[in-house]
Amino acid sequence: MDIGVLVSGRGSNLEAVLDHIDRGAIRGAEVRVVISNDPNARALRVAAKHGVKGLVLEQGRSSREDYDARIADALQRSGVTPDGGLVLLAGFMRILSKPFVEMYKGRILNIHPSLLPAFPGLNAQRQALAYGAKVSGCTVHFVVPDVDAGPVVVQRPVPVKEGDDEEALSARILRQEHKAYPEAVRLFVEGRLRLEGRKVRVQR
Ligand code: GAR
Repeated sequence: MDIGVLVSGRGSNLEAVLDHIDRGAIRGAEVRVVISNDPNARALRVAAKHGVKGLVLEQGRSSREDYDARIADALQRSGVTPDGGLVLLAGFMRILSKPFVEMYKGRILNIHPSLLPAFPGLNAQRQALAYGAKVSGCTVHFVVPDVDAGPVVVQRPVPVKEGDDEEALSARILRQEHKAYPEAVRLFVEGRLRLEGRKVRVQR
């Protein structure tokens, strides 16, 4: 399966997925392209280290729809098609337009650093601390036009500890993200995810 990854920053989740593919823990999948909206994203260096094509696409003055159409075009030219490909959002800090989400319907995954539907949007770890939550975690979900609202594929919880600051909690969640995202990708690539309404059934 041909995978395209959209990134904006550090790229540690991208790296986790690439590591799993490299060591055969995810079979039958290749990351064909990594697209960043930020030319300085470390994720581009992660892609290069793994021999994966990296592209920078900046929004500039284009509308959200036009920009997303350019992303779709770049994905398809790399073989990541709406009928057979998979698009991963890995720290991609932009909201995708409805036409893009519709085009790749059921073939876009995102990872978010909370147990959705708690703490959607930006700074999820900070939100969890401010709320006084005792447990948080991460969620891999299918992308739908509403932000952080799609069907849940994998969730992993972590405790919020007394004395945690944002950095400590984020690091604890990130360790689980690096397990959750490759697991979700593996299940998708193996064809084991069935969408029933907003529920995801995992086939054995
Ligand atoms: C991760 O913690 C991811 O869950 C979060 O950004 C970070 C990206 O790290 N994503 C969101 O907050 C999306 N709303 P990475 O670039 O090292 O993978």
